[in-house]
Formats: sequence, structure tokens, C-alpha cells
Amino acid sequence: MNPFDLTGKHIAITGASSGFGYHFAGVLAGAGATVSLGARRIDKLEARVAEIESAGGKAVALPLDVRDISSIEGFINGAAEANGNIDVLINNAGVESGAKTYAMIDEDDWDFVMDTNLKGAWLASKSYTEHVHASGAGGGNIVMVSSITDRRTIKGQFPYAVSKGAMTRMTEVMALEAARYGIRVNALAPGYILTDVSRVLLESDMSESFMKGIPMRRYGEFEDLDGPLLLLTSDASRYMTGSVLTVDGGHVCGSL
Ligand SMILES: NC(=O)c1ccc[n+]([C@@H]2O[C@H](COP(=O)([O-])OP(=O)(O)OC[C@H]3O[C@@H](n4cnc5c(N)ncnc54)[C@H](OP(=O)(O)O)[C@@H]3O)[C@@H](O)[C@H]2O)c1
Repeated sequence: MNPFDLTGKHIAITGASSGFGYHFAGVLAGAGATVSLGARRIDKLEARVAEIESAGGKAVALPLDVRDISSIEGFINGAAEANGNIDVLINNAGVESGAKTYAMIDEDDWDFVMDTNLKGAWLASKSYTEHVHASGAGGGNIVMVSSITDRRTIKGQFPYAVSKGAMTRMTEVMALEAARYGIRVNALAPGYILTDVSRVLLESDMSESFMKGIPMRRYGEFEDLDGPLLLLTSDASRYMTGSVLTVDGGHVCGSL
């Protein structure tokens, strides 16, 4: 038996229209899971569904705005109606607000980032917990997509790094509270990989010197996350809860 096999599992992913979520959808479907994809850009989700289906996988696209509780409930209920009990929820949707310090952002910047990255993940987890309870499935699995900025940051990542620090703590607190429902809660904390979220830094003038702070001397690639993702979403991690899995080429160990 392969403990990483996802055959028969249904996984719901927030923020699957680009970047990590888009990549995760293909990896998880390739490992046998049925995937329910949520984001605001439904056209991009539908394109991903078509790719997965043409590769023999099963997927569905559902509109989702994680800043709106009724949209979250629509996503969870719609996924369950389409594909049955949800075995795993991946809280991946996330945004940043540009290279700004705490003195530069305004309340709208704060609300935009915190409502999406933190409040959205909490509300989606709450709605998912209600689904697990109502379904009688007896258990579930939540994976947060946090970031190494939960521990190590640079000037100008406010409030993004604040949201990820809180998300890591939320993972631990939720793990404590969700065990009674048979739900495990862990976080994936990637280092820097080029996407729309990281572009402002990775394509800046300071990118080359910044990379010198990574012991493995390179930014990550999507595929670097595949093994850790399969671990956290599968039964291979069945005795893990409250863990934060860092995948960063050693960046948090660096001294620069
Ligand atoms: N790239 C990195 O270096 C890095 C490192 C560590 C952690 N992360 C984390 O990885 C996650 C994915 O980011 P990414 O790098 O893949 O960037 P990305 O390509 O910009 O993807 C972000 C995703 O979040 C979705 N999203 C944003 N606001 C949303 C909302 N209100 N409701 C629903 N979906 C929403 C976007 O879809 P729509 O716009 O279609 O809604 C998109 O699919 C984020 O949580 C990010 O913080 C990234």
C-alpha cells in the first residue's frame, strides 16, 4: 500500500486559479484525488478543470471569494454536492499589498491582506468543520499554505508577514481544538517561488543579493512543494497535526 496515494479522496483547494493552487490541483489529481477548485477568476479555474479532465482526472470549478462567508459556504456546499464528502481542505488563497512598511499601508491594505489570508482561512476552516460534522465522515484534514515570512521577513512585507505569522499560530491553535472532530490541521510554509504574490521582490533589483541568503542558492520551483504537499494531504501524515512544514532551501536558517 502506498501511503501517499490519494485515490478516492476529495480535496477542495482555495485560490486554484493561478500559482501554487493551480499547480497543486494537477499534482493532487495526478495522485488520484478528485479536486474542487475555488477562486474569483472562474475562467481560469475552468481552463484548469479541462486540463485535468483531459489527463483523465476529475475536477470541478466553483466561484469563491474567501472574504465573503456566503461565498465560502457556497464553495464548500457546492464541492460536496459535486464530489461528496470533502476529505481535505487546502487554504491556499492569498494576496500581498506591495512593498510597503507598517507606516506606509492604510486600513484598506490591512483589511485586504488580513481578510483574505487570515480571516478567509479561518472562515473556510470553520465552514469545512461544519461540513465534516454534518456529513458524519468522522474526520477531516486542513492544510494551510503559510510562508517562511511567518518567522523570517524583510522590511516592506507588512502586513503580509503578519498574516502568515498569525496563520501559523492559527494552525497550532486549530489543531488543538479540531482534534475532537477528528480533523488534523497542518501548514505548508514555502520559501520564495516566482508567482504574482512574490513577483514584486523576486523581479526587483535586490533579488540577486536576496538569493544569497538562501543556503541552497536558488528560489524554489513549484515541483519542490510536491512531496510535502502529498505528505500533508495523504494518510502518510496521519499522526501529524499542528505541524508547520518549511520548504525553503534552508532560507530560515540563513544569516543574511
Ligand atoms: N509565491 C511565493 O513565493 C509564496 C511563498 C510562500 C507562500 N505563498 C502563499 O501561497 C499562496 C498562493 O499564492 P501564489 O504565490 O500562488 O500567488 P498567486 O498566483 O497570486 O495565487 C493566489 C491565488 O489566491 C486567489 N485569491 C486571491 N484572493 C482571493 C479571494 N478573495 N478569494 C478566493 N481566492 C483568492 C487567486 O485567485 P483569484 O484572483 O482568481 O481569486 C489565486 O488563485 C498564498 O497564500 C501565498 O501567500 C507564496
